[in-house]
Amino acid sequence: MLLLDQTRLPLHQEWLRLTDLESVCEAIRSLKVRGAPAIGVAAAYGAVLEMRRRVIDRTSMVGSGNAAHQTSSERMEAAEFLREFSSITADLRATRPTAVNLFHCLERMDQAASQICQESNFEAASVCEALEKEAISIHEEDEQLCARMGELGSELIPDKAGILTHCNAGAMATGGIGTALGAIYTAHLSGKKVHVFADETRPLLQGSRITSWELQKAGIPVHLITDSMAATVLADGRADLVIVGADRIASNGDTANKIGTLGLAILAKHFGVPFYVVAPSTTLDVSLDDGMGIPIEQRNADEVRQFLGHASAPTDIDVFNPAFDVTPGNLIAAIVTETGIHRPPYDFRSLSRG
Ligand code: MRU
Repeated sequence: MLLLDQTRLPLHQEWLRLTDLESVCEAIRSLKVRGAPAIGVAAAYGAVLEMRRRVIDRTSMVGSGNAAHQTSSERMEAAEFLREFSSITADLRATRPTAVNLFHCLERMDQAASQICQESNFEAASVCEALEKEAISIHEEDEQLCARMGELGSELIPDKAGILTHCNAGAMATGGIGTALGAIYTAHLSGKKVHVFADETRPLLQGSRITSWELQKAGIPVHLITDSMAATVLADGRADLVIVGADRIASNGDTANKIGTLGLAILAKHFGVPFYVVAPSTTLDVSLDDGMGIPIEQRNADEVRQFLGHASAPTDIDVFNPAFDVTPGNLIAAIVTETGIHRPPYDFRSLSRG
C-alpha cells in the first residue's frame, strides 16, 4: 500500500510503501495518515493487506503453492481466516480512539469477511480479493460523499467570504476533496471569491503544514495564523464564518474535532458569526446520545514539549495533551453531511451509516 507521509509535508512529498499490519498501525498512530475519513480508508486497505500477506505466507510454507493439493490441516479454513481477520481489525481499532470512521470501516470489513466466508466455497485468496473490493468501495464512496458535501457546504459560503478554519479537513484527510475544505474548494470553483484564515493547529501543525499547503496549491487565497490569532481575526471582522471537519458526532450534534475547535465555536458565538461543521454520515456515532461519551485521545507529552523535534520546554515538564475537544451541538449553526444541511436542534439517530 502506498501512502503519502503527511508528517513530512509540506517540504517533502515522500511516499511510503506499507507492507504489513504493524507499518499500517504505526502510520495511523504517528499521523502519517490522518483525518477521520482517511484513517478509516487506510485501515480498511491495511486489514486486507495484512490478511493477504498471512495467506500468502501460509501458502508458501506448505510448498507447492497450489491450494487444491493442500491437506485440510495445511489450508487456511474459513473459521481460522475469520479469527485472523478479526485479530487484525482489533489491532487497527486500537491505533486511535476518537475518529469513529475507523471503527465503522473496520466493522464493515469484519461484516464483509464473515458474509463472504459464508456465501462461497471458502478459498482464502478469493476472499482476500473480495475484501480488497470492499476496501476500494469504502474509498470510492468517501470520494462521492466529499463531492456531495462540497456542493451542500458551498451553499453556506457567500461570495467574498472570509473563512476561518482549523486543523486540516481537506483532500489529505479524506478519500476525496475533503469535508470543510471540500466546501471551500467547491465555492471557489463555482466562482465565489473567498479568503481563508488557516489556524496553524498546535501541537502538530496540521493547519500550517497541510491546510495552507493544500489551499495554496488550489490557488485559494489564504493567510496562515497561529491559533491564538483567531480571536483577533474574528474581532476585526475578517472572517464571516468558521468551518471545520469532525472526528465523531453524537446524536445531539455534539462534535469532537481537533483540539482548539471548541474555543473557536465559543469565539464565533461571541462575535456573531456562524460556526459550521462538515462531515459525512460515517462520522456520526448514534450509539452516543451526546458528546460526553466520546473517547478523547491523549497523546505523547513530547508533542507539546517539542516544536518540530526541538525541545521548546523543560524536557520533564508535565503536559496535558488531549488531541480533540467536544463542541456542544448548540454552538453549531449547521452540520453538513452528504444528506443535507442540518440545523439545531440535532437528532441524527435515523441517519447513521455506521
Ligand atoms: O489528529 P488528526 O490530524 O487526525 O485530526 C484531524 C481532525 O481533527 C480533522 O478536523 C477531522 O478528522 C476531520 S477530517 C475531514
